[in-house]
Amino acid sequence: MTTYSAPSTLTPILTRGWGEDRSWTLESYRSRGGYEGLARANTMTAAEIIDVVKAAGLRGRGGAGFPTGLKWSFLPPDDGLPRYLVVNSDESEPGACKDVPLLMANPHALVEGVIIGSRALNCHHAFVYLRGEVPHAYRRLLSAIKEAEDAGLLGGLRITAHAGAGAYICGEETALLDSLEGHRGHPRLKPPFPAAEGLYARPTAVNNVETISQVPEIFRESAEWYASMGTEKSKGHGIFSLSGHVAHPGQFEAPFGITMREILDMAGGIRPGHHLKFWTPGGSSSPIFTEAELDVPLDYESVVGAGSMLGTRSLQVFDETTSVVRVVTRWVEFYQHESCGKCTPCREGTYWLKQILLRLERGQGLPGDVDLLEEIAGNIAGRSFCALGDAAATPVRSGIAKFRDEFEAGLTTPARELFPYEASANYQRGGVR
Ligand SMILES: Cc1cc2nc3c(=O)[nH]c(=O)nc-3n(C[C@H](O)[C@H](O)[C@H](O)COP(=O)(O)O)c2cc1C
Ligand code: SF4
Repeated sequence: MTTYSAPSTLTPILTRGWGEDRSWTLESYRSRGGYEGLARANTMTAAEIIDVVKAAGLRGRGGAGFPTGLKWSFLPPDDGLPRYLVVNSDESEPGACKDVPLLMANPHALVEGVIIGSRALNCHHAFVYLRGEVPHAYRRLLSAIKEAEDAGLLGGLRITAHAGAGAYICGEETALLDSLEGHRGHPRLKPPFPAAEGLYARPTAVNNVETISQVPEIFRESAEWYASMGTEKSKGHGIFSLSGHVAHPGQFEAPFGITMREILDMAGGIRPGHHLKFWTPGGSSSPIFTEAELDVPLDYESVVGAGSMLGTRSLQVFDETTSVVRVVTRWVEFYQHESCGKCTPCREGTYWLKQILLRLERGQGLPGDVDLLEEIAGNIAGRSFCALGDAAATPVRSGIAKFRDEFEAGLTTPARELFPYEASANYQRGGVR
């Protein structure tokens, strides 16, 4: 049985004020120091702004952790023609749930970050591409942009908020650009990278909502302040989204390097009467962890060293009532549904994986099915056009690696007999279990 101790310090910076009345308004944001960072950035040249972001060590929060200042410096010198900052707000990965609450509670942090980022890139028209299934976040962003414009804060910058139709693949930066241009969202061949040829074939920086929302505070405080948090290579802090079988799920903003044990401790541990079975450090596309990895520092390098990926810090928690086969099947159904169909390994392979997983879940697996799953997943990973294919293969491979017996049991026994749905449901008619 897991014991939880050693509470750590949270760093409510982006999440500061989320509980305040109408925290999303300009007035509330200003009361928390909002737009002071912009005032400081306005005294700097574009190159100086990029240097500050580099010195802070800010890394992209969309999953890969690419250094933001470096990405901005990849744009070629200004030739007087358009160049763009595009914010990726397509958040769709199972388990990922930080960008939407951030937009709901603190949209001005993004607007201020967009203004500073646009100054750094000499960009006069920025875009925010939002997942279309969250109209409430879209409306809140529109109202924040309007407030900032009315207050004269945009300084000539135009910000367009664009609602997509709700496709996971449109979170992949080049598919996003295709979609923004009005085409079907298909990933583009790279190179050329967006920095050289992005939106409308012009130099473009694509950044995650949380990445850009981090920028104002770096200018309000300092690069040194930001870099003093986190670990040697994963500087700063981030929002860790805890969901699933925990007593108190939610957003925990903490320095990189915090452990899952500490976060679970602050969340009151696993729901009463149960114990941890497995968890994801970075959502459904990251190899699963178990109790053995509770003390791995949650920074990019340590999580990779332990065999997974930090991704979007989507900490999904599953207790002993959960069927691994069922969870992996739901995830693969998601990837199969979201596959854009451009390349064969992902388009066909995710469909094959789904068919096999569904029969294993029903207890009607065929001899050799588990090996077949591994073989198909092995032929998708590394052979697909974009990372969605790899993401689909990952839970299959890591689920089998850690819980092979449960997949083998699917040859004879339905998952619902081994793990009744009711036991793992967090909610039932009438309230929380
Ligand atoms: C299938 C797929 C979906 C993605 N979805 C998102 C997303 O919803 N939001 C996001 O910021 N990045 C997403 N990414 C990563 C983006 O391609 C890109 O790396 C990111 O927006 C860069 O921003 P950053 O440097 O600030 O992290 C996705 C990547 C893939 C392959
Ligand atoms: S890996 Fe999947 S989502 Fe990516 S291009 Fe191929 S078919 Fe489309």
